[in-house]
Amino acid sequence: MKLVKVKGHEEMSEFAANYILDKVKSNCQVKLGLATGGTPVRTYEMLIEDFRRNYTSYQNVSTYNLDEYVGIAPDDPNSYHSFMFKHLFDYINIPREKVYIPNGLSADIHQEASNYEYIIDQIGGVDLQLLGIGENGHIGFNEPGTPFDTETHIVTLTESTRRANSRYFESVDKVPEKAITMGIASILKSKEILLLASGESKAEAIYQMFTGESSIDCPASVLKNHPNAVVVADEKAVSKLIATMSMSHS
Ligand code: GLP
Repeated sequence: MKLVKVKGHEEMSEFAANYILDKVKSNCQVKLGLATGGTPVRTYEMLIEDFRRNYTSYQNVSTYNLDEYVGIAPDDPNSYHSFMFKHLFDYINIPREKVYIPNGLSADIHQEASNYEYIIDQIGGVDLQLLGIGENGHIGFNEPGTPFDTETHIVTLTESTRRANSRYFESVDKVPEKAITMGIASILKSKEILLLASGESKAEAIYQMFTGESSIDCPASVLKNHPNAVVVADEKAVSKLIATMSMSHS
């Protein structure tokens, strides 16, 4: 697991956008795993800016989102479907049928989860998975305690995650209690992983991720077991890790 330290959110986004663009330009059929949350928004904006300037084509690209809330419709403004269209897909030329996001309103949500895993297996895992990180170290919606061999499944969100994500909702009780998410094993099927972290609220999670053995207490620490994972973190996100390292050297 490689750590790339950058100054702030802008530099992190630039690194990620260039990383993704390199993949799209070198393989027009690249299979991208995408994430939601505040962290990748600026990265997506940069992809849109590039599309407008250079018309980098997404005609043959396919995308696979990590997760979706259960119980809200794809066209609900708070769904991750809506998020992805609002922040990226509406502005690039990706065909609708090449966009894969779990359907949180499926009549059989467990079947939906196994169908989604089947899709991931059919493509042999995504080529590049973009990840954010939760304040408690979650990736996708894999909360602490999730076994590392879990595939796409239904989760009950922790209070801390619901609180952190309530900023997108009217209030915390409007945040769904369940979500469907790629599991840790599904994420590990990716050929490459790029995890982005920005801001002080991620400092503890980044510290936990890099210190000690990988543990289900910090789901993101599983990336230590992946042969090709890069973590791009800004100064605030690495602050605790750096402070601890310099203390142990003094
Ligand atoms: C949600 C998503 C994660 C995301 C996390 C962090 O819980 N399911 O995929 O990484 O939030 O979000 P943010 O980037 O807004 O801090």
